Amino acid sequence: MNILGIETSCDETAAAVVKDGSEMLSNAVSSSVDLHAEYGGVVPEIAARSHIEVILPVVHQALAGAFPGLPREKAWAKIDAIAVTYGPGLGGSLLIGVLTARTLAIAKDKPLYAVNHVAAHPYANFITKTGLAGYKLPAKVPEFPFLALIVSGGHSQLVFYRGHFDYEVIGRTADDAVGEAFDKVAKMLGLPYPGGPSVSQAAAQGDPNAFPLPLAKMDNPYDFSFSGLKTAVLRAAQQAIGKDYAFPSKKLPQALSEAQKHNIAASFQRAAIDALLRAARKAIDKYQPASLVVAGGVAANQALRQELNNLPIEVLYTDIKLCTDNGAMVAALGYYLASHKQPAADPYTLSPAPNLQM
Ligand code: KG4
Ligand code: ZN
Repeated sequence: MNILGIETSCDETAAAVVKDGSEMLSNAVSSSVDLHAEYGGVVPEIAARSHIEVILPVVHQALAGAFPGLPREKAWAKIDAIAVTYGPGLGGSLLIGVLTARTLAIAKDKPLYAVNHVAAHPYANFITKTGLAGYKLPAKVPEFPFLALIVSGGHSQLVFYRGHFDYEVIGRTADDAVGEAFDKVAKMLGLPYPGGPSVSQAAAQGDPNAFPLPLAKMDNPYDFSFSGLKTAVLRAAQQAIGKDYAFPSKKLPQALSEAQKHNIAASFQRAAIDALLRAARKAIDKYQPASLVVAGGVAANQALRQELNNLPIEVLYTDIKLCTDNGAMVAALGYYLASHKQPAADPYTLSPAPNLQM
């Protein structure tokens, strides 16, 4: 079964073809990240406009990549179903993917599956084969029961999976997503957007113990919180240059030395990872999963991977290119929706659900 997955929830326009939920035949991604960089964050209108411009070329690229040499109509004949992210995400961005998928499902007469973006992230770890160059994929699919740590720019949660479509969200962030915290700290330090890669690069040159930062107290031991940490980073940065809380964060990048930026980045990253580790450890003790599946953009973080590798459990990651947003994870979950007889979506009525939860 070949599924075409379409993903447009944020600033990546992505489409991919995955066979039987496990073999990635193609993976096309066009990111508008460069257009947002000068604003220090995703501008929804720019993201939506960019999706409109590139969505069809990206879909065609996914088809051509999956079935090289086949004329487009013959490639379409090999597609069994379309899966599309319908939430959560930016309304305007989701709308472009959903309308494209609906139109294609009707025009090409394919079943349509509506996919939850956050639920799709761990399904990137079910992709174990590809003929595409440059991917380092896991050798086997995760076995149930597993615990998924889903950490991205929009979401941070711990989910206990007993089986496909049989899961429980046991912990989540009380406020900001961890990736969002990386992005905000990057802004404070004058590091480029997206903040995850730039903060982790700066952190690699700094001392994680330079600034003691607090770990938030949580009622639910599997929850985490990053908004207090973000404020603590701001105070630490102001203090480092001998200023008080009134010093504007906008002026910090010029006032901080390179060494101070590195130390703040390292201390922040240390605290953010500690919060995730603390919750993951507690959840592993309680739920005794077979493995920990780490998914979402922040799973690309090498320091996080190193720390998680010390846990007394098998920790599963996939290629960094499949941690950040992509169409392959959507296609992989789409396959399980189709093969587990989950209801297909109505291509005449499916609407985006920007606030969709797992
Ligand atoms: O999953 P994703 O591509 O999009 C969402 O669904 O949000 O995740 C993007 C997030 C951004 O906040 C980005 O800063 C973060 O993932 N990220 C990282 C790293 N690479 C990307 N965070 C920490 N370390 C990284 N190396
Ligand atoms: Zn995502």
